[in-house]
Amino acid sequence: MLAIIGGSGLSRFSSLAVTHRQVVHTPYGEPSAPLTFGNLAGRPVVFLARHGDGHDIAPHQVNYCANVWALREQKAEAIVSVASVGCIRPDLTPGTIVIPDQIIDYTWGRRSTYFEGDAPVTHVDFTEPYSRDLRARLLAAAQNCGEPVRNGAVYATTQGPRLETAAEIDRLERDGADIVGMTGMPEAALARELGVNYAAIAVVVNFAAGRGDSHARISMEKIDGVLLEAMVHVLRIVEALAAAS
Ligand code: HPA
Repeated sequence: MLAIIGGSGLSRFSSLAVTHRQVVHTPYGEPSAPLTFGNLAGRPVVFLARHGDGHDIAPHQVNYCANVWALREQKAEAIVSVASVGCIRPDLTPGTIVIPDQIIDYTWGRRSTYFEGDAPVTHVDFTEPYSRDLRARLLAAAQNCGEPVRNGAVYATTQGPRLETAAEIDRLERDGADIVGMTGMPEAALARELGVNYAAIAVVVNFAAGRGDSHARISMEKIDGVLLEAMVHVLRIVEALAAAS
């Protein structure tokens, strides 16, 4: 079964034919919301709203361990994360959909591993943080439904919930980051620890701080508009992925 974790702009999945919702408990506590089960393009899909049904869980407060665990328990063979990001690289603009291929983690204070307590320490390989196969399936799905996407980007995950300063964005650029968001980690690493294929669809919703029309400030009103419009395209890609699963 395909699992989708929806971020900002995707806390409800309109094209999903919902069959049932289920409150689940995990050894790590409660996931962000009840799991929503349904069919997409005739395939079973489970959906989880990362920020909760009411979008009231901030990026640093998301229980990533519970979310990923809950989806794995439902036998999810793949998790697709949908996340909004700011763009750092000059050739990216708001509205662009990106399938990132690398991550730099700047988060802190989030539980970022299942290997705590009495579990034997295991160092998972994370050279390629996203599943190569699932990325390829996402790119093929986008192509099949005629949705243009960028193949590859370095996703810097910041702590939030505040946005970055212009100097912080300059630093991220020097580090090699192309896009910046707040939820990419530890989600990707936890999926890897549990052996679940994981990839992301990143929606560029704004120029990062100090760039483009965010030169002086980032406009939240503009972000909402871009997000709304971009989600139509994201849903088409996810539907094409489900259809090919
Ligand atoms: N920075 C961090 N996270 C984000 C941004 C940003 O500019 N836009 C959307 N999520």
